[in-house]
Amino acid sequence: MGEGTLTPEYRHEPVMLQEVLETLSLAPGSTVCDCTLGGAGHSSRMAQAVGEEGLLIGIDQDDMALEAAGKRLDAEAPGVPHKLLKGNFGDLDRLLVSAEVPGVDGFLFDLGVSSPQLDIPERGFSYNEDAPLDMRMDPSNNTLTAADVINTFDGPDIARALRTLGDEKYAREIAREICRRREVKPIETTGELVDAIKAAIPAAARRHGHHPARKTFQAIRIVVNRELDVLEEGLEAAIRWLNPGGRICVISYHSLEDRIVKHTFQEMSRGCTCPPDLPVCTCGNVPTLRVITRKPLVASTEEVQRNPRARSAKIRVAERL
Ligand SMILES: C[S@@+](CC[C@H](N)C(=O)[O-])C[C@H]1O[C@@H](n2cnc3c(N)ncnc32)[C@H](O)[C@@H]1O
Ligand SMILES: [Zn+2]
Repeated sequence: MGEGTLTPEYRHEPVMLQEVLETLSLAPGSTVCDCTLGGAGHSSRMAQAVGEEGLLIGIDQDDMALEAAGKRLDAEAPGVPHKLLKGNFGDLDRLLVSAEVPGVDGFLFDLGVSSPQLDIPERGFSYNEDAPLDMRMDPSNNTLTAADVINTFDGPDIARALRTLGDEKYAREIAREICRRREVKPIETTGELVDAIKAAIPAAARRHGHHPARKTFQAIRIVVNRELDVLEEGLEAAIRWLNPGGRICVISYHSLEDRIVKHTFQEMSRGCTCPPDLPVCTCGNVPTLRVITRKPLVASTEEVQRNPRARSAKIRVAERL
């Protein structure tokens, strides 16, 4: 990970790069869309693969990412046409209409936040730094901050979010402590939230394993950015835009994300859903996808050692029929 302060360089090692390139198998001249451009770690190689006759469309909701990506693409894939678009992939239809392409041959989704986003204290994603509780990936379009969630959501709703989105064992205790503290004074910084979490968790549970705030921060971040809702919307739109034979590759880092990817692919690769005893098909469903990865691909041990972000990564790939 990076240096912990605003750095001019955008450091983020692309996860499972070889696997992405191999499974997307982009032909020269094709159109590829990276829905989570970040610093263009994957995209610079995808741009090289489609070449000067091809087109790379890069989407990110983060201005810093777009700026860093533009520079990297100019340096590493000069001459390859690219269109970089600011926006949320939940809004993919509108973004691709604005890119004026008839269809797309390959999509990549590399979900979540990037290392630079986590490393800049002011973004409020990090439990290691004290900063305003923000966590918005796109502050210009999203008015809901982490502070709003923590200070205005009902206690049971906070507990449910921590349990389902963070898999937090002490969800109820943490939510209760948050509510107790905010009665006295709103919780405004990441440091204040970390203090509340630490106070809520039994001392023994605090001593080993990951940082005690890790799961709560993950859950709140998913709520703030509506990450699961936009994933569903983005995947469905991407599959509609895929040209026949084109592939979609999704890297997820969270079991709920992986479940959405798996179910969406399964659903769209299923044909008729009529009961077997019906003499003729009445549903009219035809499959639009072929699943390429029955089981998700995971990173090699070497990669996980080199890049801890790869530890929970799962890749699923499907092909448009
Ligand atoms: C894990 S990083 C991608 C890193 C990139 N693959 C690389 O190798 O440099 C995820 C990026 O996707 C962006 N992002 C996450 N969710 C998004 C969404 N719903 N719409 C648009 N961008 C999103 C984040 O701002 C972040 O820059
Ligand atoms: Zn049927």
